[in-house]
Amino acid sequence: RRQKDGQLIALHEKAAELYHHILLRTQVGQHALKYLQDRGISEEQMTEFQIGFAPAERTLLKQVFQQENVDTQVISRSGLVTEREDGEQLDRFYSRIMFPIRNAQGKVVAFSGRLFLEDNYESARMPKYLNSPETEIFNKRQVLYNFDQARAVGRKENELVLFEGFMDVISASGAGIKNGVASMGTSLTNEQLTMFQRTVKKVLICYDGDNAGREASYRALQSFTDHSSLDVSILMLPENLDPDDYIQTYGGERFKEQVKNHRESPFTFKMLYFKQDKNLENEHERLAYLDQMIKELASVPSVIEREVYTHQLSEMFDISEEAIQAEVDKVLTTER
Ligand code: GTP
Ligand code: MN
Ligand code: MN
Ligand code: MN
Ligand code: MN
Repeated sequence: RRQKDGQLIALHEKAAELYHHILLRTQVGQHALKYLQDRGISEEQMTEFQIGFAPAERTLLKQVFQQENVDTQVISRSGLVTEREDGEQLDRFYSRIMFPIRNAQGKVVAFSGRLFLEDNYESARMPKYLNSPETEIFNKRQVLYNFDQARAVGRKENELVLFEGFMDVISASGAGIKNGVASMGTSLTNEQLTMFQRTVKKVLICYDGDNAGREASYRALQSFTDHSSLDVSILMLPENLDPDDYIQTYGGERFKEQVKNHRESPFTFKMLYFKQDKNLENEHERLAYLDQMIKELASVPSVIEREVYTHQLSEMFDISEEAIQAEVDKVLTTER
């Protein structure tokens, strides 16, 4: 089993080197390299994350592996190729900017490829990101992008930052935030929650500043509070920007300032989140919202935090703190 895994990992390590070399050192990679440079990614970042390029011809890995006499069965099990009906193997990844996915031990076990076409002709028919299939060495539920590198910094700061996209992790790292990770484009799994819990006490959710990102933030927050004892905060970026866009637009320093000073507590996040779809001018909706917030308030464990939020709600609705407190007490008593 070990030895078999080793074989598959070796193929991935080899592929990562090839893709990386093509991006940085060959004519074929030039357009993709220019594109990444225009997006503000430095060569240092490209090296740190071993970013690569898989060319349009689907024969690169196939040829190299054949030259090295790798067993076709093994190539097939690696997931790096797909089989045509006539049994011919073709590279799975082509016309894509390649992000190697490492396991917690720092070994490349999969790839995610971002579509990159010279002309946009076919783009509508192909997914923006393509991930490796599940294999003997890759289970996407058990992997967090960049966890192997983020872990040490995370331990020191006692915090990991959770991003939506690989590009966000890479841009944030360029801005000096080295404790960022991302899931594989799915919602958080229990296995990933365990990875957080074993490493740090705190987590910052920093998803895209659009509607989808806010919904995903809420779901991630719920997973963390339901299944872990982690101390969660949430950063909501403005203007539909994702962290990478934000860094492009306002620079790394300002992003770091956001991370440091503009993170919301779970309660404040929910205050904003539940307000989105309500018209607070309408009395019925206002009371429903207040009711919802009082239930949330009752679930805040810290008495001091509760007092702070009671004050916030009191100001917002022009209701006495005593009245809010009385309602919170009612919830707490019926729960007991
Ligand atoms: P850029 O457009 O290059 O800036 O990428 P992004 O990081 O902003 O990606 P986006 O916000 O669209 O998506 C965030 C994450 O969701 C990606 O890193 C992927 O993991 C995942 N994702 C997005 N699109 C797809 C897709 O078409 N297929 C799959 N499997 N995952 C996707
Ligand atoms: Mn998005
Ligand atoms: Mn995004
Ligand atoms: Mn983006
Ligand atoms: Mn007060």
